[in-house]
Amino acid sequence: MRRRLPLLLAAVGAACAALAASAGPARWWFAAGPLLALTALGVRDLVQRRDSLLRAYPLTGRLPFVPFVPRRGRDERPGAVREFLVSSLAPVEPAEEPPVVRVGGPDCRLPYDMALLNVSALSFGALSARAVLALNRGAALGRFAQDTGEGGLSEHHLRGGGDLVWEIGTGYFGCRTGDGRLDAREFADKAALPEVRCVSLKLSQGAAPGGGALLPGVKVSASVARERNVPAGEPVVSPPGHREYSTPRELVLFLARLRELAGGKPTGLKLCVGSRREFLAVCRAMVAEGVAPDFVVVDGSEGGSGAAPPYAGEVGLPLTEGLMTVHNALVGVGLRDRVRIGASGGVATGADVVRRLAQGADYTNAARAMMRAVGCVGTGRCHTNTCPVGVATQDPRRTRALDVGDKTRRVRDYQRGTVRDAVRIMASMGVREPAALTPAHLVRRTGPGTVRSYAELYEWLEPGVLLSGPPESWAADWKAADPDGFS
Ligand SMILES: Cc1cc2nc3c(=O)[nH]c(=O)nc-3n(C[C@H](O)[C@H](O)[C@H](O)COP(=O)(O)O)c2cc1C
Repeated sequence: MRRRLPLLLAAVGAACAALAASAGPARWWFAAGPLLALTALGVRDLVQRRDSLLRAYPLTGRLPFVPFVPRRGRDERPGAVREFLVSSLAPVEPAEEPPVVRVGGPDCRLPYDMALLNVSALSFGALSARAVLALNRGAALGRFAQDTGEGGLSEHHLRGGGDLVWEIGTGYFGCRTGDGRLDAREFADKAALPEVRCVSLKLSQGAAPGGGALLPGVKVSASVARERNVPAGEPVVSPPGHREYSTPRELVLFLARLRELAGGKPTGLKLCVGSRREFLAVCRAMVAEGVAPDFVVVDGSEGGSGAAPPYAGEVGLPLTEGLMTVHNALVGVGLRDRVRIGASGGVATGADVVRRLAQGADYTNAARAMMRAVGCVGTGRCHTNTCPVGVATQDPRRTRALDVGDKTRRVRDYQRGTVRDAVRIMASMGVREPAALTPAHLVRRTGPGTVRSYAELYEWLEPGVLLSGPPESWAADWKAADPDGFS
Protein backbone atom coordinates (compact mmCIF):
# COMPACT_ATOMS: atom_id res chain seq x y z
CA MET A 1 0.00 0.00 0.00
CA ARG A 2 2.80 2.40 0.99
CA ARG A 3 4.26 1.93 -2.48
CA ARG A 4 1.10 3.29 -4.10
CA LEU A 5 0.34 5.99 -1.51
CA PRO A 6 1.71 8.90 -3.57
CA LEU A 7 -0.52 7.90 -6.48
CA LEU A 8 -3.52 7.57 -4.17
CA LEU A 9 -2.85 10.99 -2.62
CA ALA A 10 -2.53 12.55 -6.08
CA ALA A 11 -5.81 10.96 -7.18
CA VAL A 12 -7.70 12.01 -4.02
CA GLY A 13 -6.21 15.51 -4.24
CA ALA A 14 -7.18 15.78 -7.90
CA ALA A 15 -10.74 14.65 -7.17
CA CYS A 16 -11.14 17.12 -4.26
CA ALA A 17 -9.68 20.01 -6.27
CA ALA A 18 -11.91 19.19 -9.27
CA LEU A 19 -15.00 19.08 -7.01
CA ALA A 20 -14.02 22.38 -5.40
CA ALA A 21 -13.51 23.95 -8.84
CA SER A 22 -16.88 22.84 -10.16
CA ALA A 23 -18.74 23.86 -6.98
CA GLY A 24 -16.81 27.04 -6.17
CA PRO A 25 -14.10 29.35 -7.51
CA ALA A 26 -12.59 28.35 -10.88
CA ARG A 27 -9.03 28.95 -9.58
CA TRP A 28 -9.20 25.47 -8.04
CA TRP A 29 -8.54 24.21 -11.57
CA PHE A 30 -4.94 25.45 -11.14
CA ALA A 31 -4.55 22.78 -8.47
CA ALA A 32 -6.76 20.15 -10.10
CA GLY A 33 -4.95 20.32 -13.47
CA PRO A 34 -1.43 19.31 -12.29
CA LEU A 35 -2.87 16.78 -9.84
CA LEU A 36 -4.90 15.13 -12.61
CA ALA A 37 -1.79 15.04 -14.81
CA LEU A 38 0.18 13.46 -11.95
CA THR A 39 -2.56 10.89 -11.42
CA ALA A 40 -2.59 10.01 -15.11
CA LEU A 41 1.20 9.60 -15.04
CA GLY A 42 0.96 7.34 -11.97
CA VAL A 43 -1.72 5.18 -13.58
CA ARG A 44 0.46 4.87 -16.66
CA ASP A 45 3.38 3.74 -14.46
CA LEU A 46 1.14 1.18 -12.84
CA VAL A 47 -0.20 -0.43 -15.99
CA GLN A 48 2.87 -0.32 -18.24
CA ARG A 49 4.81 -3.60 -18.51
CA ARG A 50 8.35 -2.68 -19.37
CA ASP A 51 9.65 -1.17 -16.12
CA SER A 52 9.04 -3.35 -13.05
CA LEU A 53 10.27 -0.66 -10.66
CA LEU A 54 7.68 1.81 -11.92
CA ARG A 55 4.97 -0.86 -11.76
CA ALA A 56 5.83 -1.46 -8.13
CA TYR A 57 6.43 2.22 -7.26
CA PRO A 58 4.20 4.36 -9.50
CA LEU A 59 5.38 8.01 -9.54
CA THR A 60 8.05 7.65 -6.84
CA GLY A 61 10.02 5.11 -8.91
CA ARG A 62 10.85 8.04 -11.22
CA LEU A 63 12.67 9.96 -8.48
CA PRO A 64 16.33 9.19 -7.76
CA PHE A 65 16.30 9.50 -3.96
CA VAL A 66 13.19 8.58 -2.00
CA PRO A 67 13.99 6.76 1.25
CA PHE A 68 11.72 3.76 0.79
CA VAL A 69 12.17 3.45 -2.96
CA PRO A 70 15.07 1.19 -3.96
CA ARG A 71 17.80 2.82 -6.01
CA ARG A 72 18.68 1.33 -9.30
CA GLY A 73 21.95 -0.53 -8.89
CA ARG A 74 25.12 0.21 -10.80
CA ASP A 75 26.60 -2.33 -13.13
CA GLU A 76 30.03 -3.14 -11.81
CA ARG A 77 32.24 -5.48 -13.74
CA PRO A 78 35.49 -6.13 -11.96
CA GLY A 79 38.65 -6.68 -13.92
CA ALA A 80 37.35 -5.17 -17.16
CA VAL A 81 39.48 -2.05 -17.22
CA ARG A 82 43.10 -2.81 -18.03
CA GLU A 83 42.64 -5.55 -20.58
CA PHE A 84 42.07 -5.25 -24.30
CA LEU A 85 41.15 -7.64 -27.07
CA VAL A 86 43.52 -7.58 -30.04
CA SER A 87 41.95 -6.15 -33.18
CA SER A 88 43.26 -7.18 -36.59
CA LEU A 89 44.19 -5.37 -39.79
CA ALA A 90 42.73 -8.40 -41.55
CA PRO A 91 39.20 -8.52 -40.12
CA VAL A 92 36.69 -11.07 -41.43
CA GLU A 93 32.95 -10.96 -42.06
CA PRO A 94 31.00 -11.84 -38.90
CA ALA A 95 29.45 -15.31 -38.98
CA GLU A 96 25.77 -15.09 -39.90
CA GLU A 97 24.51 -17.78 -37.55
CA PRO A 98 25.37 -17.55 -33.84
CA PRO A 99 28.06 -20.15 -33.13
CA VAL A 100 27.32 -23.12 -30.88
CA VAL A 101 29.65 -25.45 -29.03
CA ARG A 102 29.06 -29.20 -29.09
CA VAL A 103 29.07 -30.60 -25.55
CA GLY A 104 29.46 -34.35 -25.14
CA GLY A 105 32.55 -36.53 -24.92
CA PRO A 106 32.90 -40.15 -26.03
CA ASP A 107 30.79 -41.47 -23.11
CA CYS A 108 27.89 -39.18 -23.90
CA ARG A 109 25.11 -40.51 -26.10
CA LEU A 110 23.08 -37.31 -26.55
CA PRO A 111 25.45 -34.41 -27.23
CA TYR A 112 24.07 -30.89 -26.88
CA ASP A 113 24.89 -27.80 -28.91
CA MET A 114 25.47 -25.10 -26.30
CA ALA A 115 25.12 -21.40 -27.12
CA LEU A 116 27.99 -19.02 -26.41
CA LEU A 117 25.95 -17.38 -23.63
CA ASN A 118 23.42 -19.16 -21.41
CA VAL A 119 21.46 -18.59 -18.22
CA SER A 120 23.65 -19.48 -15.25
CA ALA A 121 22.31 -21.46 -12.28
CA LEU A 122 19.46 -19.55 -10.61
CA SER A 123 17.06 -21.65 -8.60
CA PHE A 124 13.33 -21.33 -8.03
CA GLY A 125 13.30 -20.12 -4.44
CA ALA A 126 16.11 -17.65 -4.95
CA LEU A 127 14.07 -16.32 -7.90
CA SER A 128 10.32 -15.98 -8.25
CA ALA A 129 8.25 -18.32 -10.39
CA ARG A 130 7.67 -15.50 -12.88
CA ALA A 131 11.38 -14.75 -13.20
CA VAL A 132 12.21 -18.44 -13.72
CA LEU A 133 9.46 -18.72 -16.33
CA ALA A 134 10.57 -15.58 -18.21
CA LEU A 135 14.15 -16.90 -18.31
CA ASN A 136 12.90 -20.27 -19.54
CA ARG A 137 10.70 -18.81 -22.26
CA GLY A 138 13.50 -16.44 -23.28
CA ALA A 139 15.84 -19.43 -23.57
CA ALA A 140 13.29 -21.27 -25.70
CA LEU A 141 12.85 -18.28 -28.03
CA GLY A 142 16.58 -17.63 -28.34
CA ARG A 143 17.68 -21.30 -28.41
CA PHE A 144 20.02 -21.23 -25.47
CA ALA A 145 20.11 -23.12 -22.18
CA GLN A 146 18.88 -22.30 -18.69
CA ASP A 147 20.58 -23.85 -15.67
CA THR A 148 17.96 -24.75 -13.05
CA GLY A 149 20.18 -23.92 -10.08
CA GLU A 150 20.37 -26.32 -7.17
CA GLY A 151 16.78 -25.85 -5.99
CA GLY A 152 15.47 -28.61 -8.23
CA LEU A 153 13.70 -29.01 -11.52
CA SER A 154 10.63 -26.94 -10.68
CA GLU A 155 7.37 -26.82 -12.63
CA HIS A 156 8.29 -23.26 -13.67
CA HIS A 157 11.45 -24.52 -15.36
CA LEU A 158 9.33 -26.90 -17.39
CA ARG A 159 6.56 -24.57 -18.50
CA GLY A 160 8.30 -22.55 -21.18
CA GLY A 161 9.90 -25.25 -23.33
CA GLY A 162 13.47 -23.96 -22.89
CA ASP A 163 16.48 -26.27 -22.85
CA LEU A 164 17.61 -27.07 -19.31
CA VAL A 165 20.84 -27.88 -17.57
CA TRP A 166 19.60 -29.64 -14.43
CA GLU A 167 21.87 -28.78 -11.54
CA ILE A 168 22.35 -31.27 -8.72
CA GLY A 169 23.74 -29.61 -5.59
CA THR A 170 24.68 -31.03 -2.23
CA GLY A 171 21.03 -31.02 -1.11
CA TYR A 172 19.96 -33.23 -4.09
CA PHE A 173 16.73 -31.23 -4.22
CA GLY A 174 14.17 -32.86 -6.43
CA CYS A 175 15.90 -36.27 -6.29
CA ARG A 176 16.62 -36.78 -2.60
CA THR A 177 16.07 -39.76 -0.34
CA GLY A 178 14.77 -39.32 3.20
CA ASP A 179 18.32 -39.43 4.56
CA GLY A 180 19.59 -36.73 2.20
CA ARG A 181 21.24 -38.83 -0.49
CA LEU A 182 20.61 -39.20 -4.21
CA ASP A 183 17.38 -40.95 -5.10
CA ALA A 184 18.60 -42.70 -8.24
CA ARG A 185 15.17 -43.65 -9.53
CA GLU A 186 13.71 -40.17 -9.14
CA PHE A 187 16.84 -38.68 -10.71
CA ALA A 188 16.63 -41.02 -13.71
CA ASP A 189 12.90 -40.31 -14.22
CA LYS A 190 13.38 -36.55 -14.22
CA ALA A 191 16.62 -36.60 -16.21
CA ALA A 192 14.73 -38.46 -18.94
CA LEU A 193 12.47 -35.43 -19.55
CA PRO A 194 13.17 -34.02 -23.01
CA GLU A 195 13.70 -30.50 -21.63
CA VAL A 196 16.69 -31.73 -19.61
CA ARG A 197 19.58 -31.52 -22.07
CA CYS A 198 22.50 -31.71 -19.61
CA VAL A 199 23.14 -32.52 -15.96
CA SER A 200 25.49 -30.42 -13.85
CA LEU A 201 26.90 -31.67 -10.57
CA LYS A 202 27.59 -28.60 -8.50
CA LEU A 203 30.63 -28.93 -6.27
CA SER A 204 30.79 -25.27 -5.24
CA GLN A 205 29.98 -21.75 -6.38
CA GLY A 206 32.09 -18.61 -6.39
CA ALA A 207 30.13 -16.56 -3.86
CA ALA A 208 30.44 -19.22 -1.17
CA PRO A 209 32.90 -21.97 -2.12
CA GLY A 210 32.99 -24.71 0.48
CA GLY A 211 29.85 -23.42 2.14
CA GLY A 212 26.38 -24.86 1.58
CA ALA A 213 23.92 -22.56 -0.19
CA LEU A 214 21.34 -20.85 2.01
CA LEU A 215 17.73 -20.03 1.22
CA PRO A 216 16.36 -17.83 4.03
CA GLY A 217 13.16 -19.12 5.68
CA VAL A 218 11.22 -16.04 4.61
CA LYS A 219 11.61 -17.19 0.99
CA VAL A 220 10.58 -20.79 1.60
CA SER A 221 6.97 -20.46 0.47
CA ALA A 222 4.64 -23.46 0.32
CA SER A 223 5.43 -23.90 -3.36
CA VAL A 224 9.23 -23.68 -2.87
CA ALA A 225 8.94 -26.10 0.07
CA ARG A 226 7.03 -28.56 -2.11
CA GLU A 227 9.63 -28.45 -4.90
CA ARG A 228 12.48 -29.05 -2.45
CA ASN A 229 10.61 -31.39 -0.13
CA VAL A 230 11.44 -29.29 2.96
CA PRO A 231 9.27 -27.58 5.61
CA ALA A 232 7.83 -24.19 4.58
CA GLY A 233 9.04 -21.07 6.38
CA GLU A 234 12.30 -22.59 7.62
CA PRO A 235 15.73 -21.77 6.20
CA VAL A 236 17.14 -24.32 3.77
CA VAL A 237 20.85 -24.83 4.30
CA SER A 238 22.50 -27.19 1.82
CA PRO A 239 25.27 -29.32 3.27
CA PRO A 240 28.74 -27.92 2.48
CA GLY A 241 29.79 -31.11 0.66
CA HIS A 242 28.30 -34.08 -1.16
CA ARG A 243 27.36 -37.25 0.69
CA GLU A 244 27.71 -39.47 -2.36
CA TYR A 245 31.51 -39.32 -2.51
CA SER A 246 34.44 -38.37 -0.36
CA THR A 247 37.45 -38.77 -2.69
CA PRO A 248 38.26 -37.53 -6.21
CA ARG A 249 37.99 -41.09 -7.52
CA GLU A 250 34.54 -41.55 -5.97
CA LEU A 251 33.56 -38.17 -7.43
CA VAL A 252 34.35 -39.15 -11.01
CA LEU A 253 32.68 -42.54 -10.55
CA PHE A 254 29.59 -40.77 -9.19
CA LEU A 255 29.64 -38.50 -12.23
CA ALA A 256 29.79 -41.54 -14.53
CA ARG A 257 26.84 -43.06 -12.64
CA LEU A 258 24.80 -39.87 -13.04
CA ARG A 259 25.52 -39.87 -16.79
CA GLU A 260 24.37 -43.46 -17.08
CA LEU A 261 21.23 -42.76 -15.05
CA ALA A 262 20.58 -39.74 -17.28
CA GLY A 263 20.57 -41.97 -20.36
CA GLY A 264 23.94 -40.68 -21.58
CA LYS A 265 23.06 -36.97 -21.56
CA PRO A 266 26.04 -34.62 -21.17
CA THR A 267 27.02 -34.57 -17.51
CA GLY A 268 29.51 -32.17 -16.02
CA LEU A 269 30.76 -30.29 -12.99
CA LYS A 270 30.42 -26.76 -11.70
CA LEU A 271 33.00 -25.45 -9.28
CA CYS A 272 34.91 -22.47 -8.03
CA VAL A 273 38.55 -23.54 -7.95
CA GLY A 274 40.33 -23.34 -4.62
CA SER A 275 43.59 -25.21 -4.80
CA ARG A 276 45.19 -26.30 -8.06
CA ARG A 277 46.35 -29.51 -6.40
CA GLU A 278 42.77 -30.54 -5.57
CA PHE A 279 41.63 -30.05 -9.13
CA LEU A 280 44.66 -31.99 -10.32
CA ALA A 281 43.63 -34.81 -7.97
CA VAL A 282 40.26 -34.90 -9.76
CA CYS A 283 42.11 -34.96 -13.10
CA ARG A 284 44.28 -37.84 -11.91
CA ALA A 285 41.11 -39.73 -10.96
CA MET A 286 39.67 -39.04 -14.43
CA VAL A 287 42.76 -40.50 -16.05
CA ALA A 288 42.92 -43.48 -13.69
CA GLU A 289 39.24 -44.38 -14.15
CA GLY A 290 38.99 -43.42 -17.81
CA VAL A 291 36.04 -41.15 -16.93
CA ALA A 292 35.79 -37.49 -17.86
CA PRO A 293 32.98 -34.98 -17.42
CA ASP A 294 31.44 -33.67 -20.63
CA PHE A 295 31.87 -30.13 -19.34
CA VAL A 296 33.28 -28.18 -16.42
CA VAL A 297 31.74 -24.83 -15.52
CA VAL A 298 34.26 -22.64 -13.73
CA ASP A 299 32.67 -20.04 -11.46
CA GLY A 300 34.78 -17.11 -10.30
CA SER A 301 34.88 -15.95 -6.70
CA GLU A 302 33.37 -12.68 -7.98
CA GLY A 303 30.14 -14.62 -8.56
CA GLY A 304 26.83 -13.81 -6.91
CA SER A 305 24.37 -15.71 -4.78
CA GLY A 306 20.84 -15.29 -3.45
CA ALA A 307 22.24 -14.91 0.07
CA ALA A 308 25.97 -14.23 -0.09
CA PRO A 309 28.00 -14.57 3.12
CA PRO A 310 29.94 -11.49 4.24
CA TYR A 311 33.23 -13.01 3.04
CA ALA A 312 31.96 -13.50 -0.53
CA GLY A 313 34.70 -12.74 -3.03
CA GLU A 314 37.47 -13.39 -0.48
CA VAL A 315 37.53 -17.19 -0.81
CA GLY A 316 38.27 -19.16 -3.97
CA LEU A 317 39.99 -18.16 -7.20
CA PRO A 318 38.61 -15.33 -9.34
CA LEU A 319 37.39 -16.44 -12.75
CA THR A 320 40.55 -15.55 -14.69
CA GLU A 321 42.80 -17.68 -12.49
CA GLY A 322 40.24 -20.49 -12.00
CA LEU A 323 39.57 -20.74 -15.71
CA MET A 324 43.23 -20.89 -16.69
CA THR A 325 43.87 -23.50 -13.98
CA VAL A 326 41.10 -25.80 -15.21
CA HIS A 327 41.97 -25.30 -18.89
CA ASN A 328 45.68 -26.02 -18.32
CA ALA A 329 45.05 -29.01 -16.06
CA LEU A 330 42.74 -30.62 -18.63
CA VAL A 331 45.22 -29.88 -21.44
CA GLY A 332 48.04 -31.25 -19.29
CA VAL A 333 46.29 -34.59 -18.74
CA GLY A 334 45.30 -34.85 -22.40
CA LEU A 335 41.53 -34.54 -21.80
CA ARG A 336 40.86 -31.02 -23.01
CA ASP A 337 39.54 -32.13 -26.41
CA ARG A 338 36.69 -34.11 -24.81
CA VAL A 339 35.76 -31.72 -21.98
CA ARG A 340 34.12 -28.37 -22.76
CA ILE A 341 34.67 -25.48 -20.37
CA GLY A 342 31.97 -22.98 -19.40
CA ALA A 343 32.81 -19.76 -17.55
CA SER A 344 30.68 -17.67 -15.18
CA GLY A 345 31.49 -14.66 -13.05
CA GLY A 346 30.79 -11.12 -14.21
CA VAL A 347 29.99 -12.02 -17.80
CA ALA A 348 27.63 -9.35 -19.12
CA THR A 349 28.78 -8.05 -22.52
CA GLY A 350 30.00 -9.42 -25.83
CA ALA A 351 33.54 -8.36 -24.93
CA ASP A 352 33.28 -10.32 -21.66
CA VAL A 353 32.31 -13.42 -23.62
CA VAL A 354 35.26 -13.05 -26.02
CA ARG A 355 37.70 -12.36 -23.17
CA ARG A 356 36.68 -15.58 -21.40
CA LEU A 357 36.97 -17.60 -24.60
CA ALA A 358 40.50 -16.25 -25.11
CA GLN A 359 41.36 -17.32 -21.56
CA GLY A 360 40.35 -20.92 -22.22
CA ALA A 361 36.54 -21.21 -22.05
CA ASP A 362 34.33 -22.68 -24.77
CA TYR A 363 31.13 -20.93 -23.69
CA THR A 364 29.84 -18.64 -20.95
CA ASN A 365 26.95 -18.35 -18.51
CA ALA A 366 25.49 -15.23 -16.91
CA ALA A 367 23.34 -15.01 -13.79
CA ARG A 368 23.12 -11.40 -12.67
CA ALA A 369 23.06 -9.97 -16.20
CA MET A 370 20.15 -12.32 -16.98
CA MET A 371 18.47 -11.18 -13.77
CA ARG A 372 18.82 -7.60 -15.00
CA ALA A 373 17.14 -8.69 -18.23
CA VAL A 374 14.12 -9.82 -16.20
CA GLY A 375 13.99 -6.49 -14.39
CA CYS A 376 16.49 -6.71 -11.48
CA VAL A 377 17.58 -3.23 -10.44
CA GLY A 378 20.39 -4.44 -8.18
CA THR A 379 19.09 -3.40 -4.77
CA GLY A 380 20.98 -6.28 -3.10
CA ARG A 381 17.88 -7.46 -1.22
CA CYS A 382 17.70 -10.97 -2.69
CA HIS A 383 17.84 -12.54 0.78
CA THR A 384 15.03 -10.44 2.32
CA ASN A 385 12.07 -11.46 0.16
CA THR A 386 11.39 -7.77 -0.46
CA CYS A 387 12.75 -7.52 -4.00
CA PRO A 388 10.73 -4.55 -5.29
CA VAL A 389 10.61 -5.72 -8.90
CA GLY A 390 9.41 -9.29 -8.37
CA VAL A 391 12.62 -11.03 -9.48
CA ALA A 392 14.09 -12.44 -6.25
CA THR A 393 11.05 -12.75 -4.01
CA GLN A 394 8.29 -15.23 -3.27
CA ASP A 395 5.89 -12.52 -2.10
CA PRO A 396 2.95 -12.67 -4.55
CA ARG A 397 2.23 -8.94 -4.13
CA ARG A 398 5.75 -8.14 -5.28
CA THR A 399 6.06 -10.72 -8.06
CA ARG A 400 3.10 -9.06 -9.80
CA ALA A 401 5.48 -6.27 -10.85
CA LEU A 402 7.21 -8.67 -13.27
CA ASP A 403 5.49 -8.99 -16.63
CA VAL A 404 6.48 -12.39 -18.02
CA GLY A 405 5.76 -11.58 -21.67
CA ASP A 406 7.84 -8.42 -21.73
CA LYS A 407 10.72 -9.96 -19.75
CA THR A 408 10.74 -13.08 -21.96
CA ARG A 409 11.47 -10.86 -24.94
CA ARG A 410 14.10 -8.94 -23.04
CA VAL A 411 15.93 -12.11 -22.06
CA ARG A 412 15.87 -13.27 -25.67
CA ASP A 413 17.01 -9.86 -26.94
CA TYR A 414 19.74 -9.49 -24.32
CA GLN A 415 21.27 -12.89 -25.10
CA ARG A 416 20.95 -12.37 -28.86
CA GLY A 417 22.46 -8.88 -28.77
CA THR A 418 25.34 -9.98 -26.54
CA VAL A 419 26.23 -12.97 -28.70
CA ARG A 420 25.95 -10.78 -31.80
CA ASP A 421 28.39 -8.32 -30.23
CA ALA A 422 30.76 -11.19 -29.39
CA VAL A 423 30.64 -12.42 -32.98
CA ARG A 424 31.31 -8.92 -34.32
CA ILE A 425 34.22 -8.43 -31.93
CA MET A 426 35.72 -11.76 -33.00
CA ALA A 427 35.33 -10.76 -36.65
CA SER A 428 37.16 -7.48 -35.96
CA MET A 429 39.95 -9.61 -34.51
CA GLY A 430 40.11 -11.69 -37.68
CA VAL A 431 38.50 -14.65 -35.92
CA ARG A 432 35.44 -16.44 -37.30
CA GLU A 433 35.27 -19.50 -35.03
CA PRO A 434 35.27 -19.13 -31.22
CA ALA A 435 37.66 -22.11 -31.02
CA ALA A 436 40.25 -20.04 -32.91
CA LEU A 437 40.58 -17.57 -30.03
CA THR A 438 43.82 -17.98 -28.09
CA PRO A 439 45.54 -16.27 -25.15
CA ALA A 440 47.45 -14.20 -27.73
CA HIS A 441 44.17 -12.39 -28.51
CA LEU A 442 43.99 -10.77 -25.08
CA VAL A 443 46.50 -8.22 -23.82
CA ARG A 444 46.98 -6.53 -20.50
CA ARG A 445 48.56 -3.19 -19.74
CA THR A 446 51.52 -4.03 -17.54
CA GLY A 447 53.02 -0.56 -17.14
CA PRO A 448 53.04 2.87 -18.73
CA GLY A 449 53.01 2.22 -22.48
CA THR A 450 53.56 -1.53 -22.25
CA VAL A 451 51.11 -4.31 -22.94
CA ARG A 452 51.69 -8.05 -22.92
CA SER A 453 49.46 -10.81 -24.13
CA TYR A 454 48.09 -13.62 -22.00
CA ALA A 455 50.19 -15.97 -24.09
CA GLU A 456 53.31 -14.16 -22.82
CA LEU A 457 52.15 -13.44 -19.28
CA TYR A 458 51.05 -16.93 -18.27
CA GLU A 459 52.25 -20.47 -18.67
CA TRP A 460 50.21 -22.64 -21.09
CA LEU A 461 50.73 -26.37 -20.92
CA GLU A 462 51.26 -28.67 -23.90
CA PRO A 463 48.73 -31.52 -24.37
CA GLY A 464 49.52 -34.49 -22.12
CA VAL A 465 52.61 -32.90 -20.56
CA LEU A 466 51.53 -33.64 -16.98
CA LEU A 467 51.52 -37.35 -17.81
CA SER A 468 54.78 -37.37 -19.73
CA GLY A 469 56.86 -34.96 -17.65
CA PRO A 470 55.28 -31.99 -15.82
CA PRO A 471 57.10 -28.66 -15.99
CA GLU A 472 58.80 -27.61 -12.77
CA SER A 473 56.10 -25.05 -11.96
CA TRP A 474 53.43 -27.79 -11.88
CA ALA A 475 55.53 -30.74 -10.67
CA ALA A 476 54.99 -30.37 -6.90
CA ASP A 477 51.21 -30.00 -7.17
CA TRP A 478 50.98 -32.82 -9.68
CA LYS A 479 53.02 -35.10 -7.45
CA ALA A 480 50.95 -34.27 -4.37
CA ALA A 481 47.60 -34.67 -6.18
CA ASP A 482 46.01 -37.83 -4.82
CA PRO A 483 43.04 -39.43 -6.59
CA ASP A 484 42.07 -41.02 -3.27
CA GLY A 485 42.05 -37.91 -1.10
CA PHE A 486 41.24 -34.24 -1.47
CA SER A 487 43.73 -32.99 1.09
C1 LIG B 1 20.19 -15.00 -6.88
C2 LIG B 1 21.26 -15.98 -7.25
C3 LIG B 1 21.02 -17.34 -7.07
C4 LIG B 1 22.00 -18.28 -7.43
N1 LIG B 1 21.75 -19.61 -7.28
C5 LIG B 1 22.67 -20.52 -7.68
C6 LIG B 1 22.41 -21.92 -7.61
O1 LIG B 1 21.34 -22.37 -7.22
N2 LIG B 1 23.40 -22.75 -8.01
C7 LIG B 1 24.61 -22.31 -8.48
O2 LIG B 1 25.45 -23.10 -8.87
N3 LIG B 1 24.87 -20.99 -8.56
C8 LIG B 1 23.93 -20.10 -8.19
N4 LIG B 1 24.20 -18.77 -8.32
C9 LIG B 1 25.51 -18.36 -8.89
C10 LIG B 1 25.38 -18.05 -10.38
O3 LIG B 1 24.86 -19.14 -11.10
C11 LIG B 1 26.72 -17.67 -11.00
O4 LIG B 1 27.57 -18.78 -10.95
C12 LIG B 1 27.42 -16.51 -10.32
O5 LIG B 1 26.51 -15.54 -9.87
C13 LIG B 1 28.39 -15.83 -11.28
O6 LIG B 1 27.72 -15.34 -12.40
P1 LIG B 1 27.29 -13.79 -12.58
O7 LIG B 1 28.49 -12.98 -12.26
O8 LIG B 1 26.85 -13.74 -14.00
O9 LIG B 1 26.19 -13.52 -11.60
C14 LIG B 1 23.24 -17.83 -7.96
C15 LIG B 1 23.47 -16.46 -8.13
C16 LIG B 1 22.50 -15.54 -7.80
C17 LIG B 1 22.77 -14.09 -8.03
